[in-house]
Amino acid sequence: GDVRPTTKQRQRSPTPPQPHTLAYPALTAPSGPAPAFQQPTQIISFSYTPARELEFTDSALRYLASPPPRAKLAHGYNRWVRRPETRPRLDGLLRALSAARTKRHPALANGFGAVAWRGVLTRILTAPYEERDGWEMNVMCVDGVLYFEEHLDEARLREKNDIVPRLRLQAYFGYAFESYCTSETPSAGNAPRVNVPQAPGEPPGWSGDVNTNVQWCSVVRTKLGDTRLVIGGEVDCVRGKYTGQTDTFVELKTSMVIRNTRDEARFEKKLLKFYMQSFLLGVPEILVGFRTPAGEVSTMQTFRTVEIPRLVRGKPHGWEPARCLAWGDGVLGFLKRWVGKRGDNERGQTEEGGQSEKGDGEGTGEEQQEEETRREAHPDA
Ligand code: A3P
Ligand code: MG
Ligand code: MG
Repeated sequence: GDVRPTTKQRQRSPTPPQPHTLAYPALTAPSGPAPAFQQPTQIISFSYTPARELEFTDSALRYLASPPPRAKLAHGYNRWVRRPETRPRLDGLLRALSAARTKRHPALANGFGAVAWRGVLTRILTAPYEERDGWEMNVMCVDGVLYFEEHLDEARLREKNDIVPRLRLQAYFGYAFESYCTSETPSAGNAPRVNVPQAPGEPPGWSGDVNTNVQWCSVVRTKLGDTRLVIGGEVDCVRGKYTGQTDTFVELKTSMVIRNTRDEARFEKKLLKFYMQSFLLGVPEILVGFRTPAGEVSTMQTFRTVEIPRLVRGKPHGWEPARCLAWGDGVLGFLKRWVGKRGDNERGQTEEGGQSEKGDGEGTGEEQQEEETRREAHPDA
């Protein structure tokens, strides 16, 4: 993947920031233990309404429900209220962060080094094993804090909006599964129940038509290596009760039924994304609905997030979270030095009369750029 450094000053300059390609494994420490990852704690939550208004309530929070046997995921497809694909911006997360700061949330007392949506960090951390999908990031450094956004050019954005009908239906299957598996009201105890049909003609378990504007988001604080992180992410539902923490969070996923060992290997590779996405937000449970090509749920399986790495360890298609964490830590360290320094330099020139920080033994930003630029993003893929 590529990162584009930006700063407040740089945004106003006529030349846009040039992309810089990060090389794997150049940024990864060759040996030693994996960097520590701190258990995430929630600092604030918020909801997007059906009209896509952000509000600081839990109106979009859903509770886990049991889907009926053989749930049909194409149900309601033509009534899907689909949120158009726009550039994924940090605005919602920044509003939440500012609300938490106004309330002087104790978890923010020590400050933080980076802010991102969970999806962005998942992309960065899983990059050592990514063989197919590239990405570009915009990284901005303001007052020593890195802010990440995925960079989508016009073509990529169009591509995401104009997906072929088959893929559009497949994406819908995932949301329909969420409708069957969630309820607006908690069930008594931890065991989820099947939803009672709300309207005539609706299948058992259907909790309402899909509107992808609606999202419940959790903002957590955690730490990777020595970087304190603020991460925001959508949470599909909670099991039993909402505790105000991440311990009852549940991630819902659909996947094609496994028919042979090749399918199994493909699924186990895909588990890295499920794992990392959940791990970063402190989501302890992932419920997977295995579906037929036509979109009928055939079996369900619950995974404890922490147990997933053991399932794939040592297999030819396996993966090691430690390698992802070491790489992620390396990327953050590199960006702190490189983007951070550029920001400081420019601020130095524009606000403090040309004093730029040097002399940490690592050379200037420009030299470092030369040193660390490699054209091949994933030589080991
Ligand atoms: P599945 O993951 O069950 O396919 P999430 O699982 O992250 O909560 O996302 C919910 C659903 O959004 C996904 O359900 C999928 O249908 C859709 N979705 C998420 N990311 C997508 C992507 N990159 N491309 C297409 N659909 C996506
Ligand atoms: Mg989701
Ligand atoms: Mg999901």
